[in-house]
Amino acid sequence: MAAWSKDSWRTKDRIQMPTYTDSEALNRVEARLASYPPLVFAGEARRLRRQLADVSEGKAFLLQGGDCAESFDEFSADLIRDTYKVMLQMAVVLTYGAKVPVVKIGRMAGQFAKPRSADTETKDGVELPSYRGDIINDIGFTAASRVPDPERMLQAYTQAAASLNLLRAFSQGGFADMKRIHSWTLGSTADTPGYEKFADIANRISDSMSFMEAAGVSAETADTLHRVDFYTSHEALLLEYEEALCRIDSTSGLPIAGSGHMIWIGDRTRQPDGAHVEFCRGVQNPVGLKCGPSLDPEELVRLIDLLNPHNEAGRLTLIARFGAGKVGGHLPKLIKAVEREGKKVVWSCDPMHGNTIKSDSGYKTRPVEQVLREVREFFAIHAAEGTIPGGVHFEMTGKNVTECTGGVRAVADEDLSDRYHTACDPRLNASQSLELAFLVSEALAERRNHQQAAAV
Ligand code: PEP
Ligand code: CO
Repeated sequence: MAAWSKDSWRTKDRIQMPTYTDSEALNRVEARLASYPPLVFAGEARRLRRQLADVSEGKAFLLQGGDCAESFDEFSADLIRDTYKVMLQMAVVLTYGAKVPVVKIGRMAGQFAKPRSADTETKDGVELPSYRGDIINDIGFTAASRVPDPERMLQAYTQAAASLNLLRAFSQGGFADMKRIHSWTLGSTADTPGYEKFADIANRISDSMSFMEAAGVSAETADTLHRVDFYTSHEALLLEYEEALCRIDSTSGLPIAGSGHMIWIGDRTRQPDGAHVEFCRGVQNPVGLKCGPSLDPEELVRLIDLLNPHNEAGRLTLIARFGAGKVGGHLPKLIKAVEREGKKVVWSCDPMHGNTIKSDSGYKTRPVEQVLREVREFFAIHAAEGTIPGGVHFEMTGKNVTECTGGVRAVADEDLSDRYHTACDPRLNASQSLELAFLVSEALAERRNHQQAAAV
């Protein structure tokens, strides 16, 4: 394979990246970032890789979630806390169904750059370059706002560092006490019509906790009940930023992306000879690859060979995102190719990006039933193929937004305008996220029951 360096992506075709007009300003920013500390350390990325290796063997389950796009304006401690809290609630519910540890990765502390389906946006006859995420340009609809500004990378770095600092404090400082997390879930499900169906699981979790406590296992005696591992991830789209934060791990002597624990390649930028695959193939972090309807099995195998040439478990997560009703037409072919070639991967399901529609009221939205349906199809296909449904990947927020329609506390098309805050794609709100966790938990429990029955 050709030699890799942190800037070898520059010799490849790049798409979905801005053209900075002020190259001196760009160079200055890159030099600054290159002199700053990395946001994550190699040992953490290696630990995540080991945990994802467990996921690939069905010994753990992956929960990845967070914003579609983090925003500079909406940045606050409360926002981070609320999303983190919902993810932990989801993780407890999933752990109960799966009976294996849940590996938690936020789309946080770096999820700033967005690929767009159109290069320009037109409003009232005015055409401007598209918004590409706060790390690149501003969402305001003026020509000046849409000019890519390299200085924004410094603000993104600062925001990511502050976010990570808080996430680390929450994870280690007692906020993540499992009993407390579950009491939030009980609080948010109690007396809510439609949630009765989940009360049974919630009560059984309470029972298990009481039993453990009676047996002397509590947050005071067991570290694992009040500390969690929480990792960060984002799409590695803006390669100038990624290159500037790339470091050499002093233990292994190998390159590591210092921008987040896991990075992924988007569905639009996964060309085998393109810049994004080139950058990602050289770093040691766990890498994700979005797999959409246009990916054929041969190309997937080629990408796996490039991204994980030594076929190491935990290195590569394939994130399937086809759309409800379309999974059966695509996923089985890809699974069969992976099995035939004996490739070790984690299969995760992103039921968001194939299910975006325009509502009658003109909002970009996602019906929760379609999101759920895609998850169910993903599980059913893995059951049929005898392979492992390793995880789920959601766009969600801890806030009570109205961006996706449906759910137990139903959001109707007319409600979308109430609290539609996303800078990019519509996210599940706290209640919809929890509901999904209960359903995935049921699917995981069902899978275990089948396996146990088959083993008898
Ligand atoms: C995303 O995850 O926000 C995204 C743009 O996904 P995809 O590359 O799968 O379209
Ligand atoms: Co998105």
